[in-house]
Amino acid sequence: MSTSVNNGKRERPKQQPIVRPAGLTHSPIKRLKREFLAEHRREGPYPPGLLKPSLGRTIGFAKDPLPILLDSYERFGPVFTLRIMSVPVVFMLGPEANHFALVSNADRFSWREGSMGDLTALLGDGLLTTDGPYHRRGRKIMLPAFHRDRIARSGELIVEEASAAVSQLSPGTNLDIYDWTRTLALRIAMRALFGFDPDDREHAAAEQFETALGYFGRDYFVQLLRGPRTPFGRLESSRKQLDRLIYSEISRRRSEGAAAAEQSGDLLGLLLATTSADGDSLSDEEIRDQVMTLLFAGHDTTTSTVTFMLYELSRNPEALAKVLNELDQKLAGRPPTPADLTGTELPELEMALDETLRLYPPAWIAPRRTVGSFECAGVSVPGGIQLSLSSWASHHLPDVWPDPEEFKPERFTPEAKASLAKGAYIPFGGRSSMPAMLKRLPPYSGMRLSPR
Ligand code: HEM
Repeated sequence: MSTSVNNGKRERPKQQPIVRPAGLTHSPIKRLKREFLAEHRREGPYPPGLLKPSLGRTIGFAKDPLPILLDSYERFGPVFTLRIMSVPVVFMLGPEANHFALVSNADRFSWREGSMGDLTALLGDGLLTTDGPYHRRGRKIMLPAFHRDRIARSGELIVEEASAAVSQLSPGTNLDIYDWTRTLALRIAMRALFGFDPDDREHAAAEQFETALGYFGRDYFVQLLRGPRTPFGRLESSRKQLDRLIYSEISRRRSEGAAAAEQSGDLLGLLLATTSADGDSLSDEEIRDQVMTLLFAGHDTTTSTVTFMLYELSRNPEALAKVLNELDQKLAGRPPTPADLTGTELPELEMALDETLRLYPPAWIAPRRTVGSFECAGVSVPGGIQLSLSSWASHHLPDVWPDPEEFKPERFTPEAKASLAKGAYIPFGGRSSMPAMLKRLPPYSGMRLSPR
């Protein structure tokens, strides 16, 4: 930081107030116009790739992007361009490119200005949709809420909900494991984040949230529609109802005072009571956006991970036997505690989890916009354009992961893990594994190490 000299005294320049970022447009026409201008005003060519418009490629990418990404990596190398719909998107795959974008040069990429910004329609301005000083301020204020002891309290609640869900199963039952896990994850999120009773029909926050989220799962063309009966209209109406619920809960908690809020132990209460070391705290609107973001970031990722792990274990009897044997020996019938999940206590489970996150990383694509031009892996990339990383494709590169389609937990023995190239394994973005992150708390899991 530069300083100025006044009457022989050195003065620190006044810090700029950190303000909420300007809202983003959700008009499809304005957004298409923006991409058109970004393409035509950019300085320098796109990296090599498939730049001609192609409906087949666009539909193929929407249905099954992995083969297209792997084929392009083989043809063009780790940095290439694909025109999807009308928009050229640069992709960066593999260890070197991932490390560049997630760690060593993370500040060259904006989350909000890339398609992550689309999420503001539901999430507002939380950690996933902001950059720079505003994002850093949010993390700083929220950090105490993610202290190890507080996560441990959520751990007890998770064990309680999971045990109740398991106790309803009986041998021979046929069940949709994705649905079962999703219901469990949402129940946990409702309690751990908001302190809501998941059985309380009056709140019904989970249903509203699922309806709103439905928008992002629809086909691209359907997402462009606007009006009350469209998926976007339903998103807006669910958001309004969710906001009513959350703001009325915030005002009820505020009226009870900070001590009661902290005592509640749920994240909403902790955020209401939390103040950073320099006395800064979050407004009601900021708290709403952050808890919605945590709900979004936390429930689908965990649902997908647990579902795919159970799926792969059911197809791999040897790996399943190792995990079950370990659980029998270490837990001997008792429920797990957060202390069991530090990564070293249950190594077979840890390796199965790591391999699941390699094969099926839930946050499979990381969309960004380049802030300025740069060079990576010998390829120049212009500023101001859409770019994406893909953990899913990076975890399937045959030159990095032999037999990439096979489920082999032994890829993640401590020795094998230590010898992985930087950026090769990125299920959590710039970080390595969930238990490893929990061990280092604070900061907490979802919190990035790299600057933004
Ligand atoms: C298996 C579980 C999870 C996986 C694989 C996962 C993966 C990720 C990834 C890849 C990112 C970075 C996205 C990007 O680079 O574009 C991220 C960010 C984030 N995740 Fe998770 N996540 C998981 C669970 C959770 C949970 C349980 C929460 C909270 C309750 C959470 C909260 C967040 C937050 C707040 C961010 C943004 C962090 C920041 O900007 O500082 N995640 N997560």
